[in-house]
Amino acid sequence: MRVTFMGESGRGVAGGAKPFMGARMLLCHSLLTVLLIAVTASPFNNTRPGCPATCGDVSIPYPFGIGPDCSLPGFNLSCNDNASGVKKPFIYNVELINISLLPAQARVYNYISWQCYNHTSNDMSYSTWRLNFTAYPYRFSDADNKFTVVGCHTLAYITGQNQKDSYAGGCVTVCGSSESLTNGSCSGIGCCQTSIPKGINYYKVSFNRNFNNSRVWKFNPCSYAVLAEADWFKFSTTYIKTRQLNETNGGRAPIVLDWAIGNETCEVAKRNTTSYACLSEHSDCFNSSNGPGYICNCSRGYQGNAYLPNGCQDIDECTLKDEYPCHGTCTNIPGDYNCTCPPGTNGDAKKGTCQGSRSNPFSSVKLVIGIVTSTSFALLLLLCIVLSLVREKRKLMRIKEEYFRRHGGRLLLEEIKSKQGLAFKVYTKGELEQATNNFDKNRILGGGGHGTVYKGILNDNHAVAIKKSKIIDDYQKKEFGKEMVILSQINHKNVVKLLGCCLEVEVPMLVYEFVSNGTLFQYIHDRNRTSHISLDTRLEIASQSAEALAYLHSSASPPIIHGDVKSSNILLDDNHNAKVSDFGASMLVPKDETQFATLVQGTCGYLDPEYLQTCQLTDKSDVYSFGVVLLELLTGKKAFYFEGSDEERSLSSSFLSAMKEERLLQLLDNHIKNEEDMELVQEIAELARRCLNVMGEDRPTMKEVADDLDRLRKFKQHPFLQHNTEEIENLLGEPSSYTENEISGCYSIEKKAAMDIEYGR
Ligand SMILES: *[C@@H]1O[C@H](CO)[C@@H](O)[C@H](O)[C@H]1NC(C)=O
Ligand SMILES: *[C@@H]1O[C@H](CO)[C@@H](O)[C@H](O)[C@H]1NC(C)=O
Ligand SMILES: *[C@@H]1O[C@H](CO)[C@@H](O)[C@H](O)[C@H]1NC(C)=O
Ligand SMILES: *[C@@H]1O[C@H](CO)[C@@H](O)[C@H](O)[C@H]1NC(C)=O
Ligand SMILES: *[C@@H]1O[C@H](CO)[C@@H](O)[C@H](O)[C@H]1NC(C)=O
Ligand SMILES: *[C@@H]1O[C@H](CO)[C@@H](O)[C@H](O)[C@H]1NC(C)=O
Ligand SMILES: *[C@@H]1O[C@H](CO)[C@@H](O)[C@H](O)[C@H]1NC(C)=O
Ligand SMILES: *[C@@H]1O[C@H](CO)[C@@H](O)[C@H](O)[C@H]1NC(C)=O
Ligand SMILES: *[C@@H]1O[C@H](CO)[C@@H](O)[C@H](O)[C@H]1NC(C)=O
Ligand SMILES: *[C@@H]1O[C@H](CO)[C@@H](O)[C@H](O)[C@H]1NC(C)=O
Ligand SMILES: *[C@@H]1O[C@H](CO)[C@@H](O)[C@H](O)[C@H]1NC(C)=O
Ligand SMILES: *[C@@H]1O[C@H](CO)[C@@H](O)[C@H](O)[C@H]1NC(C)=O
Repeated sequence: MRVTFMGESGRGVAGGAKPFMGARMLLCHSLLTVLLIAVTASPFNNTRPGCPATCGDVSIPYPFGIGPDCSLPGFNLSCNDNASGVKKPFIYNVELINISLLPAQARVYNYISWQCYNHTSNDMSYSTWRLNFTAYPYRFSDADNKFTVVGCHTLAYITGQNQKDSYAGGCVTVCGSSESLTNGSCSGIGCCQTSIPKGINYYKVSFNRNFNNSRVWKFNPCSYAVLAEADWFKFSTTYIKTRQLNETNGGRAPIVLDWAIGNETCEVAKRNTTSYACLSEHSDCFNSSNGPGYICNCSRGYQGNAYLPNGCQDIDECTLKDEYPCHGTCTNIPGDYNCTCPPGTNGDAKKGTCQGSRSNPFSSVKLVIGIVTSTSFALLLLLCIVLSLVREKRKLMRIKEEYFRRHGGRLLLEEIKSKQGLAFKVYTKGELEQATNNFDKNRILGGGGHGTVYKGILNDNHAVAIKKSKIIDDYQKKEFGKEMVILSQINHKNVVKLLGCCLEVEVPMLVYEFVSNGTLFQYIHDRNRTSHISLDTRLEIASQSAEALAYLHSSASPPIIHGDVKSSNILLDDNHNAKVSDFGASMLVPKDETQFATLVQGTCGYLDPEYLQTCQLTDKSDVYSFGVVLLELLTGKKAFYFEGSDEERSLSSSFLSAMKEERLLQLLDNHIKNEEDMELVQEIAELARRCLNVMGEDRPTMKEVADDLDRLRKFKQHPFLQHNTEEIENLLGEPSSYTENEISGCYSIEKKAAMDIEYGR
């Protein structure tokens, strides 16, 4: 254990030293200010000759431009009066807020979609918004934007498109009264947010009509949905009760666009010298990281606009002592600077290590005075720096300790001590920073709306996966230590092992075992995969995942509901052994059922329809979601998939109607359509249908599902038993006793959701 505590006495000392340090700090501050000489960069041209540099107070750097021949194709803007007669730049029909060349981004205002219930006339009014940039070089930044939905009984969908594929997602938010809401966090109660995929350049919002404000209009008349800059949005309870969200900025929200030149890579673009956009000398080309096309930047030592001839100008490093230190004679040269030690000394002047090499009797007095002055000056400076460092460090320690305490760290430590042999470690923030190379972007394994997962290499060369969540709610915060104790005791070969956690940060980080071969989702839907997935492998994966979930439901103590079962939460190791992951969404089953939070965590396409109505997460919700995973394994299709160009379908509803009309064969993955396995496939499909029963109580338990799959797997391995269908049927128990109504009820809910997407309502 390497957690350091600062006791009460430590705090006393820090407090006592404060007045003394205060005086010193003031001196240091003015000293440093004198030393820092701010130098502004020399101005350079940012537009083509004769083109306006600004519109209103927004500056317009090339490749953007206003007017003919002022911009690259796709980057022309218009400069019009807004409704109050102030000049504003517009792209297409949306107002531009600002442009940055690096990162290559622009911010625009897009409209907030809304639906409102009018109690007097008993009807709903709607306005839904779409933004189509397919003909422009812009795409919505997946890193900076979130699809944000505000309301108390709201299910909003976002559908979109990028170069390759169509996309559909959704977000549901529910709240029973306005009392349970808090300012600030968008946690699923009254507000929810979800990420979008890379490269989307078209999006459309629609509301599910069954979720409307007629039930909650007394405290929540309107719902809102918009794809907007995540940093811009701060949830306020007034958004629920009033129309304030829609009233600021004229019903608009900022969205961040990524842009790039053309649709080619740098290598291809350079071949055509007439169209290549990095026109300046001393410029470099980079392929865009979020879609086709490339961006230009000035080379090291130069600054300016790389898209204009002579746009990149040399940086005069000698006037920028902060960024380019020099403790000797500084000479600016193109693209760099020379920094040499004063005559008579040598060493590295950039690092300030010049030393006299021979004594010169004439200059020795000067030298001594110089050395004495500069040494005492340096000592004073050093003292200042040390003092402020010590202060900062103490502050940091106190913050760390506070987080550690708040997250139940002490309880966890006691628990670990009392349970000898528990392989669970409390990591320090420093250890995890080192393991992930300071949370380097290249180490990201995956991520979604709730957080990011990094690959980490610990000191002992052991690979781990580190999950850094974005938010947790207050309930989870208090219970965190306790939950860790329980989760750490889970030991099942098909559950990703929790190795430890880090509590010294605002949102605790979790350290998991590293699983090498990606997710089941990638495995099934990877288009580049050459070999087929055999039925054996599919059955093996299904059976192992089911066992893991059954273990969580019935053998863990207390029982654990996963809450977000989906193919991207099932990881595979090198031998294709399944490992269920992501307990970020899992909740321990509380003893007092009435305390249950109405927090929606699941993923569109996998969500239990009963849960949407009752807001009660049960073990049967996991069974439903697992049913959808079974369908993915059987059909090779995604939970929301596209048929033809634009028609989206929910896999579960297509499947249920296919089963009803006895045309299952059409849906199946081509690779498992072979004759001899058909009976077995039918049995798995039948099992999936039972999992997808609209009534939770009619679904089998996870244990039953696991047992059935295990037996089917054994049959597959011993083909001499395979044709004994009677026996298989016996093993599966009674044929499911669903009624027409239940199936069509389920069908209609899902179908309705799909239709709402199709018609953009
Ligand atoms: C900026 O543009 C003006 C004319 O438009 C030109 O005279 C001047 O030389 C340019 N400056 C640079 C640094 O290219
Ligand atoms: C950009 O230029 C094209 C062709 O000249 C024109 O059709 C389009 O309206 C312009 N776009 C804007 C925003 O001015
Ligand atoms: C026009 O722009 C000005 C300045 O940004 C702003 O104060 C005003 O509200 C805008 N008018 C409309 C109708 O958007
Ligand atoms: C653009 O505006 C946003 C928010 O108003 C601001 O945070 C950002 O720094 C601005 N970027 C530039 C390049 O001016
Ligand atoms: C609600 O509907 C009534 C009757 O159609 C109308 O008079 C009233 O203005 C509406 N209220 C709102 C807030 O739109
Ligand atoms: C988006 O705009 C492009 C061209 O402007 C058009 O071809 C395309 O059909 C539009 N997409 C949708 C979904 O409206
Ligand atoms: C949230 O903030 C708004 C003002 O920004 C305030 O009116 C409201 O009372 C706050 N709500 C809570 C629950 O603190
Ligand atoms: C609102 O939703 C309820 C179900 O929650 C539905 O019965 C009603 O028809 C919906 N109202 C409108 C106007 O769509
Ligand atoms: C939202 O704002 C827009 C523009 O100001 C307005 O047309 C619309 O009626 C507003 N909607 C609501 C629900 O207030
Ligand atoms: C790239 O853009 C050019 C012109 O804008 C277009 O003709 C071509 O089809 C595009 N290529 C791809 C692969 O999209
Ligand atoms: C190079 O780009 C120009 C302008 O886009 C185009 O007219 C020309 O056909 C291109 N040449 C080649 C060889 O692709
Ligand atoms: C910069 O330093 C190099 C060797 O370090 C030297 O060859 C060159 O002449 C110097 N240039 C200037 C302008 O002082």
